[in-house]
Amino acid sequence: MEERIIAPGAREEDTELEFTLRPRFFCEYIGQKKVKEKLKIFVTAAQNRGEPLDHVLLYGPPGLGKTTLATVIANEMSVNIRITSGPAIERPGDLAAIVTNLNQGDILFIDEIHRLNRSVEEILYPVMEDFALDIIIGKGPSARSVRLDLPRFTLIGATTRAGLLTSPLRDRFGVINRLEYYDETELTEIILRSAKILKISIDELGAKEIAKRSRGTPRVANRLLKRVRDFAEVKGNGSITREVAMRGLDLLEIDPIGLDSIDRKMLITIIEKYNGGPVGVDTIAAAISEEAVTIEDVYEPYLMQLGFLNRTPRGRIATELAYNHLGLSKTKGEKQMDLFSGRKMGQSSMIHTD
Ligand SMILES: Nc1ncnc2c1ncn2[C@@H]1O[C@H](COP(=O)(O)OP(=O)(O)O)[C@@H](O)[C@H]1O
Ligand SMILES: [Mg+2]
Repeated sequence: MEERIIAPGAREEDTELEFTLRPRFFCEYIGQKKVKEKLKIFVTAAQNRGEPLDHVLLYGPPGLGKTTLATVIANEMSVNIRITSGPAIERPGDLAAIVTNLNQGDILFIDEIHRLNRSVEEILYPVMEDFALDIIIGKGPSARSVRLDLPRFTLIGATTRAGLLTSPLRDRFGVINRLEYYDETELTEIILRSAKILKISIDELGAKEIAKRSRGTPRVANRLLKRVRDFAEVKGNGSITREVAMRGLDLLEIDPIGLDSIDRKMLITIIEKYNGGPVGVDTIAAAISEEAVTIEDVYEPYLMQLGFLNRTPRGRIATELAYNHLGLSKTKGEKQMDLFSGRKMGQSSMIHTD
């Protein structure tokens, strides 16, 4: 599979970058205003009572700052954070080992919490609710269950798929927050902040151009900044202006609204092969040689956010906005020119009717 520069999931090249760029406190965490306000209040209230924070669930597409937010909360509360993930906790014993090593007030962060094993999830319920661990000692008829008291801690769960969480698990979170895609202004601010930390010379318009193509995602914004810096150093004088950013990003085949060749291929497939849809996600996956889960978790959320794609029970449908963006006509799925204005039909106006 072709590597995507704008894939919002973390990649190896990001590890070092994310360590230096990751905001540590609320004041450095840009955007997500509503979530931040809410969490600030809960954090302050818990601190005033001298109690740990309620369990928090964070959900939303990859790269929007879930892990970052968990570490921010830990820093604000001055407590330790232990980071693990759903698939890493294979057996109930693994979870027991983790929770028995926590201190009062600590944060346990479980990434991809929707991927917890069933048997692990079941012992997690009393852990979250009563801070009690039920363990079975012995085997066969002499086996008995013993209840171990645990220190009061805060579980922060993160998931890209809130819909896959079982309701007993979801119900045990006191605070549930959905992270949203960032707007252009927020991403510009994030890029300027990152550039300052990395000592990259960039002007406001340069940052804005990268922001526009970052698909609402800070992780993508930081990655594109790095790529454009390389371009600026090789093809320019090292400074990122709008012009340099545009040329660099065009070279990477990232279009003005952040779509790459795979997004375009997916939309064009739906439009040209399946007459705009509805078409099932598995069919699309096969047609463009991608995995259905990748399409659902990574490509679709942003295309839906743009209003380019609708998910219906019968399958995916490309919207008129998608046709317009690709310069395709809805009737034939072919490029058509508007003879009067000389522009592509779809782009001519908002009021034209088909
Ligand atoms: N609100 C934010 N302000 C500034 N940078 C952010 C913000 N959210 C995320 N980032 C940047 O994006 C990167 C990815 O965020 P991360 O928390 O790992 O996303 P997620 O866990 O949701 O996949 C972080 O390393 C950080 O540099
Ligand atoms: Mg994460």
